[in-house]
Amino acid sequence: MAFARAAKTNEITPGTIREFQVEGKAIALANVGGKFYAINNTCLHRGGPLGQGVMDGNVVTCPWHGWQYDVMTGKISQNPAVGVDCYRLEVRGEDIFVDADSHC
Ligand code: FES
Repeated sequence: MAFARAAKTNEITPGTIREFQVEGKAIALANVGGKFYAINNTCLHRGGPLGQGVMDGNVVTCPWHGWQYDVMTGKISQNPAVGVDCYRLEVRGEDIFVDADSHC
């Protein structure tokens, strides 16, 4: 619905992912080669924090048991039929805005 400020672009360096609260929702923001993506922070397996995972290209590995997600879509790499929510994101100047009610 509405975009809300989520983070500064320099808070997420290329090749990393971090968790932020946006409108009361835990969201993982990833930087893939200077382009930003937003997905739900909560792993579908047992609720691990994807924003604390390790990035490899556009794939984040959950820090708890290793499930892998494409941060561009939220889909599970091994089973793209399912995934976490993926949100619309806009970069405005040095700020990242996320619509936490959207689905990309
Ligand atoms: S909680 Fe993410 S892989 Fe288990």
